[in-house]
Amino acid sequence: MNSHDCSAADAALRPCRRNDGSFSLWSEHYGQAFHSARGAIQEAKETFLAPAGLERFAAGSTLRVLELCVGTGTNTAVLLQACEQRKLQLQWWGLELDPQPLRLALADPGFRGQWPASTVEAMEERTASIHWGDARQTLRELQAPLAGRCDLVIHDAFSPGVCPQLWSLEFLALVSHCLAPQGRLTTYCSAAAVRQSLQECGLHLAGLRPPAGSASHQWSGGTVASPSVLPLGEPLVAFSQMEQEHLQTQAAVPYLDPTGHASAAEIQEQRRQRQQRSGRLSTSAWRRRWQQGDGLRNAGRFPPS
Ligand SMILES: C[S@@+](CC[C@H](N)C(=O)[O-])C[C@H]1O[C@@H](n2cnc3c(N)ncnc32)[C@H](O)[C@@H]1O
Repeated sequence: MNSHDCSAADAALRPCRRNDGSFSLWSEHYGQAFHSARGAIQEAKETFLAPAGLERFAAGSTLRVLELCVGTGTNTAVLLQACEQRKLQLQWWGLELDPQPLRLALADPGFRGQWPASTVEAMEERTASIHWGDARQTLRELQAPLAGRCDLVIHDAFSPGVCPQLWSLEFLALVSHCLAPQGRLTTYCSAAAVRQSLQECGLHLAGLRPPAGSASHQWSGGTVASPSVLPLGEPLVAFSQMEQEHLQTQAAVPYLDPTGHASAAEIQEQRRQRQQRSGRLSTSAWRRRWQQGDGLRNAGRFPPS
């Protein structure tokens, strides 16, 4: 099946199927798919769950998870299944701005048919408790109950190029305060600005093994961050030389949003000015050296060329 086999449905969000046949959505507003071309379920398992290290938790123990950008609930469903298989109790906080993606997914028989009825039921129960609104505000309100308690943070916002609000240094600081000492944040994002910000928040980082069939072995398949040193080994990898050099360029200048209310355009423009003043190596020089067409990978969420 074509990875961008999207059928027209809604003006802003169009249901589509990814390479593994799983349900996804295409956002006209952001010009991005909700999931990578290789597949929503595959991505949920490989990018968000495998690096979470759930095997560290004994059966019967409680896993505390903060999920940023619940969207269709695909990551939620895969998480619920994993917890059921491992007999883990799940305490879950889901944050999302727009109820429409979940509504579209739950109304789609193909989406529901991806999981056993018990998982869909559990998902419906959980999603009734979602914290709706701009995550910049809802996460601020959740700081007291979440501080230092989350074993896992799933960060699945649209990419920083189109949604810098959820990748700013200030927002990532709020996120990192939620992590338990051995907790992990997992994301598909490998942008230098995000990695730099996570480091500035005092977190240790690792890359994620590139997905099978990836065009470039130089790019890891995402980023994992923790207050503790992360043990390298499947699926966590060290950053490649190319990625380390990327962190020295203007691409690593963080997105800033001190008020928590700035628009994407304001954050981008302000960053552009700071990049020019930064004295850092230009990203284009780095790109020429490594022959990268585009320094910021987006895990196949871009439109078809
Ligand atoms: C890439 S999609 C998430 C995909 C999702 N994890 C899934 O499995 O379907 C990004 C999501 O971020 C949400 N979003 C965008 N801006 C947001 C904000 N400021 N606060 C919370 N959610 C936001 C969008 O509504 C969208 O559902």
